[in-house]
Amino acid sequence: MTRLRVFPATRPLKGRVEVPSDKSISHRALIMSALASGRSRLQRFSYGEDNVKTLGALRALGVPIEDSGSGVLLVDGVGLDGFHEPSCDIDCGNSGTTMRLLCGVLSAQTFHTRMVGDDSLSGRPMKRVAEPLGLRGALIRGQHHPTKAGDITAPLDVGPLSPGKRLTELEYHLPIASAQVKSALLLSGLFASGPTVISEPLLSRDHTERMLLSIGVPLVTAGTSVRLDPPSHPKALHAFDIELPGDLSAAAFPLVAAALVEGSAVTTINTGTNPSRTGLVDAFKALGVMCIVAPRGSVLNEPLAELMVKYQALRGGLVAGEMATRAIDEIPILCALAARASGVTEITDVAELRVKESDRLATMATVLRSFGVECEERPDGLRIEGRTDRPLQAAHVESHGDHRIAMTAAILGLVADGPTIIDDTDCIATSFPRFVETLRELGAQLEVES
Ligand code: S3P
Repeated sequence: MTRLRVFPATRPLKGRVEVPSDKSISHRALIMSALASGRSRLQRFSYGEDNVKTLGALRALGVPIEDSGSGVLLVDGVGLDGFHEPSCDIDCGNSGTTMRLLCGVLSAQTFHTRMVGDDSLSGRPMKRVAEPLGLRGALIRGQHHPTKAGDITAPLDVGPLSPGKRLTELEYHLPIASAQVKSALLLSGLFASGPTVISEPLLSRDHTERMLLSIGVPLVTAGTSVRLDPPSHPKALHAFDIELPGDLSAAAFPLVAAALVEGSAVTTINTGTNPSRTGLVDAFKALGVMCIVAPRGSVLNEPLAELMVKYQALRGGLVAGEMATRAIDEIPILCALAARASGVTEITDVAELRVKESDRLATMATVLRSFGVECEERPDGLRIEGRTDRPLQAAHVESHGDHRIAMTAAILGLVADGPTIIDDTDCIATSFPRFVETLRELGAQLEVES
């Protein structure tokens, strides 16, 4: 197990960096290329552990994937009817997206699959995906959830459907906006006997819709609703080439570092700016961050940009509602901004953070307090009092096995009054394998200790 020692920045952070490819888009590109017919080419694959779990799962299901090790994957898609029964359990590791999206595909198969995960994933709620899939005839069984009565969690046993049976049509309103659940339902809809019509209270990230549309599946979206009619033959999904865009959720860390360390200017290149993900940029505006977004075209319907953040004084603000939903994975790192903004920042409408890789409201509150930042934990958010008059208090914190908590603590450590230690930082590889190197390239000082 590794830990990180982060030293206070002694000079401005400067540079242009590439961040790992978008984790959400990479999961979808892997799954959809596997279901397509013919060879797809995925470039700039970043080997984040979550994505590697999806890659391993697809191989276990009989999909040939060539990997040169240099970030280029050649996926020989097997079509909608080409998956084989795996010879062992599918290990989803820490990745909720792997498990939930694959529920959609695997519940349409005539073989049984067991999906397992690590301790964190084995505590995450799965009824939200099993229940609506069950409404269209899927068979998904899990373990009783230890704390959420009536819910289930991993390991999950999925299928089999009886030979000759298909999933049925489905019309479903998601009680909570969720891209993972929406995507599982859309993917299951590819195998169904009738349409899939889904709506959600707010639009969650729409990568699945964009990618399906661009590879030949004619779905129709209207506001927060989407309708997919099942393709008429199993070879309907076209193989594709994609250079995976950089992950805005990863870019958030070096960009926030620049907003915190005096004199800094940091640019992230080729960064995905899908509007359903750019709550971060809106939150930057709300908190007084100077951020320039320079569009750089698009890839498979996904817009790209270069993002540049320059240091300037920050002010407290409100992060709530749909802005918060569009920044759901960036809330921890936005807390780091709030910690250094003058006045109070209120973050609300993010109760979902309690069921992520850790209870992120509780873990962030603990981390902030360790750095001497006053913070009130609420059922659906945090109230943070910025500390701007002096550096933060150097801290010794626990990541709770959560990559985004570990990286947020590292960024806070840059503006502390001495070295900060973060325990249990292997988890960073989940989404940002080159996190330490990237910060070093910008001029930060960090040591990895075993
Ligand atoms: C993801 C969706 C989000 C996000 C997660 C990745 C995805 O969760 O928090 O990290 O790739 O679909 P929801 O399913 O709650 O939207």
